[in-house]
Amino acid sequence: MKIAGSRILLTGATGGIGRALAPELARRGARLALAGRDTNRLARLAGEISNAAAPAVSLPSDLARPGSHAELVRCAHESLGGIDVLINNAGRSRFSAFAGEDEAALRDLIEVNVTAPLLLARAALPHLLQRGTGCIVNIGSVFGAIGFPYHAAYSATKFALRGFSEALRRELADSGVKVLYIAPRATATAMNGPAARALMADTGTAVDAPEKVAVAIADALAGDRQEVTLGGPERIFVRLNALLPGIVDASLVKQGRIAAHHLLESKAAK
Ligand SMILES: NC(=O)c1ccc[n+]([C@@H]2O[C@H](COP(=O)([O-])OP(=O)(O)OC[C@H]3O[C@@H](n4cnc5c(N)ncnc54)[C@H](OP(=O)(O)O)[C@@H]3O)[C@@H](O)[C@H]2O)c1
Repeated sequence: MKIAGSRILLTGATGGIGRALAPELARRGARLALAGRDTNRLARLAGEISNAAAPAVSLPSDLARPGSHAELVRCAHESLGGIDVLINNAGRSRFSAFAGEDEAALRDLIEVNVTAPLLLARAALPHLLQRGTGCIVNIGSVFGAIGFPYHAAYSATKFALRGFSEALRRELADSGVKVLYIAPRATATAMNGPAARALMADTGTAVDAPEKVAVAIADALAGDRQEVTLGGPERIFVRLNALLPGIVDASLVKQGRIAAHHLLESKAAK
């Protein structure tokens, strides 16, 4: 779809990928409503990317709060004069042993990573369907196609988001409204704390710059792509996992042992 002139609601705008994606979309001529929880950071970002032709608006919102989703879409629609694209980018992660998981943390993870994108899509869809155009973009993860040890809850949420995206894309096939699911690989943002970064370094995991991910997301949107996995080896790994998961088990069980070691170390350091 044409990004220039399109009205985009971007969640997670204050995070690593969001902060890179907002200027990338603005540079391509989009008009943006930026959502996140931190009012000051949002206002600063809106100021940085605004220009006379396309002023960006900041819409502080906590997506874990019931009722916030329809309200956010309503505000974005009002301030942009419509919505053409919803980018569900806000997310949280969990790097932990599942047996010791905290119930509140699990509920929060599901709320932000699954419930919020579904409710935002539900609120935005009537506007998109009325015009018979537009796109719902869901930012998933490679962990949405490959279950990673010590990321069981996070993997579960991203598998859910990928399933939602696939089903909705098929449901909307005759409507003119598109659905894009894009799965970044590891990206250098604050989402990955010291233990996760140590694991990545130990396992030689490739880590993308958020700016590179932002360009890939904008290109996928402009190119009307449906499902994109970032990273050549990761794409192969995803296919292999779908066809022959037993082969992938061996390498991920080994990676799980390294993950357990880094979790123990980070616990001891606290
Ligand atoms: N970084 C990676 O390695 C990686 C890899 C694959 C996929 N992804 C996905 O990419 C997306 C962006 O991640 P990132 O790396 O940019 O993470 P990040 O730097 O931690 O940013 C996360 C964003 O989500 C927002 N958010 C979290 N909880 C929220 C809530 N309750 N209400 C509203 N906003 C909330 C944060 O806002 P606050 O600033 O207010 O907390 C922040 O803007 C996520 O969906 C993530 O799963 C990331």
